[in-house]
Amino acid sequence: MSMKILLLGECSREHAIAEAIARSTHKVTLYALMQHMNPGIRKCCKDTGGEVVLGNFLDPEKVVQVVKDKGIDLVVIGPEEPLFRGVVDAVEEKLGVPCIGPRRGPAQIEQSKAFMRYIMWKYKIPGRLRFRTFRDVAEALEYIKETGESVAIKPARQVGGKGVKIVADVQAYLRDVRTRVKEVHVTRLYEEMAKYTDIEDKILIEEKVEGVEYTLQCFTDGEHVLPLPLVQDYKHAFEFSIGPETGGMGSIMDKTYTLPFITPEEYEKSVEIVRQLVHAVKKELGIEYKGIIAGQMMLTTLWGPTIIECYARFGDPEGVNVLSVLETDIVDIFEAILSKSLPKIKLSFRPCAVVVKAVAPVGYPLNKKLAQGHVLDIDVKKIEEKGCRIYYGSVHEEDGVIRTVGSRAVEIAGFGDSIPEAAEKVNSVLRYVTARDWRVFYRLDIGQEETLKKMIEQANIIRSVYKSRNVEELKIYEWIPGKGLRVIEY
Ligand code: GLY
Repeated sequence: MSMKILLLGECSREHAIAEAIARSTHKVTLYALMQHMNPGIRKCCKDTGGEVVLGNFLDPEKVVQVVKDKGIDLVVIGPEEPLFRGVVDAVEEKLGVPCIGPRRGPAQIEQSKAFMRYIMWKYKIPGRLRFRTFRDVAEALEYIKETGESVAIKPARQVGGKGVKIVADVQAYLRDVRTRVKEVHVTRLYEEMAKYTDIEDKILIEEKVEGVEYTLQCFTDGEHVLPLPLVQDYKHAFEFSIGPETGGMGSIMDKTYTLPFITPEEYEKSVEIVRQLVHAVKKELGIEYKGIIAGQMMLTTLWGPTIIECYARFGDPEGVNVLSVLETDIVDIFEAILSKSLPKIKLSFRPCAVVVKAVAPVGYPLNKKLAQGHVLDIDVKKIEEKGCRIYYGSVHEEDGVIRTVGSRAVEIAGFGDSIPEAAEKVNSVLRYVTARDWRVFYRLDIGQEETLKKMIEQANIIRSVYKSRNVEELKIYEWIPGKGLRVIEY
């Protein structure tokens, strides 16, 4: 039976989704709704007999109209913002057309850090952190004065991974300076958050944890969770993880389900956390979560696997790692999500390590205006000769000319027997993406032997600490000078 699928979104992750849909053995016609003309997604649509519609995919009315006009049977949502704006609710309620992506309520798992943490505590899910949320800046400032603890100050809403400040409580004599830093950051963040009126909490302050981060992406039908191989994302703009945070400058995946620094037991614990979260969403809201859910995990001395954030979608670039080698027919997976029969799906992947690296125009991520409008020259043939694949991102093509839009322009995936081998392949082709009269940047260190070794050493230290606790219910005793002993129960 033939099926018309509409994909929402326009970046490299959506290009990878489009490619997976286009290679389905089902008779699919792919349409895409996006604001910039992504040449990779356009080619996938064309290859299946479909087309791109340019328009605002964040607007539920616009999406409903395209679904009606094109006679769409299934909508697949790539990024998070359409979920937050109720696109799935509108399409499913008004037209009865199913979507791969959660409704607005369950999507709060990503949209609101407060919601995610609240259900973690209410349903006693392992890996929770102490936190407080604030709607009012004065209250947050008051709290900061009282607490001398190491904290992470975060926007309470998902705002593209920006605005996080970690302040460590190390030298006691610097306490006043630290308090001032926290106050300045809270005040600035509060001002920035004023424009987001869709959730009430503005700021979240939680205990600081450190460790090795990794992403666990899963398909879910609301009851069952089908986990994918782990991926590690590198957020900082420049080599050795310095510079401002970006959406992700690259990501690594091994040919096993786990990563060289995460044990199979830690992988299973991470899956269990995500599974419990999916079930907690249903208990809390009475609405099932369906689509893709990803835990941004951290191996911490406190819990071992700990969940830091949740995505209601594939990560970008993490989604490119898994989708570029997914052998299972993605349309079968979509059908199993909708019919709640995910356990019948056997996932299979091309057996290789995958390293993805982003190429971004200079200016990204702090000055997107500076990064916009530059003509790119891309030697696709040279990239493919090395066995790598290019995924177009934040670009717009018109009359055969590709220009930057301001964010990560392309992502290149390389494949190999090991992570360093795959990284080497990508590194050798990154120079085939250049900007005319401008510069682009990328990270060579991601996936290299040295970077991996450091990660393994760090994970080993963390593991020896959390294993020594080995308890179900955590309790921490804290001595507060002048006040005495305080017991913190998790
Ligand atoms: N790579 C991080 C994200 O997808 O938000």
